[in-house]
Amino acid sequence: MSSVLLSSELPGLEPILRGKVRDVYDLDYHLLIVATDRISAYDSILPTGIPDKGRVLTQLSAFWFEQLRSLCPSHYISVDPEQIQDVLLARKLEIPEELLEGRCMLVTRARALPVECVVRGYLDGSAWREYQTSGSICGIRLPEGLKQGSRLPEPIFTPATKATTGHDENIPESRMFRMMEPGLAKQAKEISLAVYNAAAEYAQDRGVIIADTNFEYGVFQESLIMIDECLTPDSSRFWDAARWEPGGPQPSYDKQFVRDYLDRSGWNHEPPAPPLPADVTERTAEKYRQIYRRLTDSELP
Ligand SMILES: Nc1ncnc2c1ncn2[C@@H]1O[C@H](COP(=O)(O)OP(=O)(O)OP(=O)(O)O)[C@@H](O)[C@H]1O
Ligand SMILES: [Mg+2]
Repeated sequence: MSSVLLSSELPGLEPILRGKVRDVYDLDYHLLIVATDRISAYDSILPTGIPDKGRVLTQLSAFWFEQLRSLCPSHYISVDPEQIQDVLLARKLEIPEELLEGRCMLVTRARALPVECVVRGYLDGSAWREYQTSGSICGIRLPEGLKQGSRLPEPIFTPATKATTGHDENIPESRMFRMMEPGLAKQAKEISLAVYNAAAEYAQDRGVIIADTNFEYGVFQESLIMIDECLTPDSSRFWDAARWEPGGPQPSYDKQFVRDYLDRSGWNHEPPAPPLPADVTERTAEKYRQIYRRLTDSELP
């Protein structure tokens, strides 16, 4: 197990972005994406980190980028600590030990498209909320009588705008096509569905349902590549197929213990969030390690 890292420091270089979970450093043509052990719930970053979470996010993304390479080119270059160290040393930057534990990914810098490419095979989250009021999602009409957690007749593409603050907004596909070059939009949609289908089938064989997931794309040398993270617990809803039961919220693979604890604690969801007790932290860490094992058939390196 590695030590818990809440915020990364790279002496001599400020991050261009600190997201809820990841810190991003600009290395001109490359980016260094550092997944910390931060966890968020109800839109707040908690003061307690989850051991190994950053390593799971980084290694799982790397696994999928490699696995899906023939379906979809991506920004992925390396998670090899030595290679990353060399790239930084060439820029006279020294990388602290805690960033060489498998939480860093070196990627190609791209021009990010302004949408989140969401694919859903099951009904939950914002799609479930929209379905209850309108019977549709992103303008796609769904059959009547679906429950929360129901499997959809077929996977659907439901793009969303990237909100810098607050929640992403689901948008009709037609709006996405107006926001960018339509050829790129079409390609992003087709790749998203193909990647979801391949990954969902792979996961199903391992007893895991990928209920929905969120991809991001960018343009690099005039080609579309997948960027950001890929099929992690932070970008996807993973459910245990053996426990799947439509008609309510499904136990989530990652933050269930955290949400349960926060609900019991009486916290009003206004920041600051309370710290997590050790048993909640450790059980959550085990969930992250477990999903890594189940999907990759191997232990976290
Ligand atoms: N290869 C890339 N080229 C350019 N931008 C990228 C690339 N990969 C990822 N990004 C961008 O990096 C940012 C990652 O930051 P983001 O705020 O999503 O962090 P996060 O830790 O996932 O937090 P949040 O929970 O808020 O999403 C995104 O805006 C994404 O578009
Ligand atoms: Mg993100």
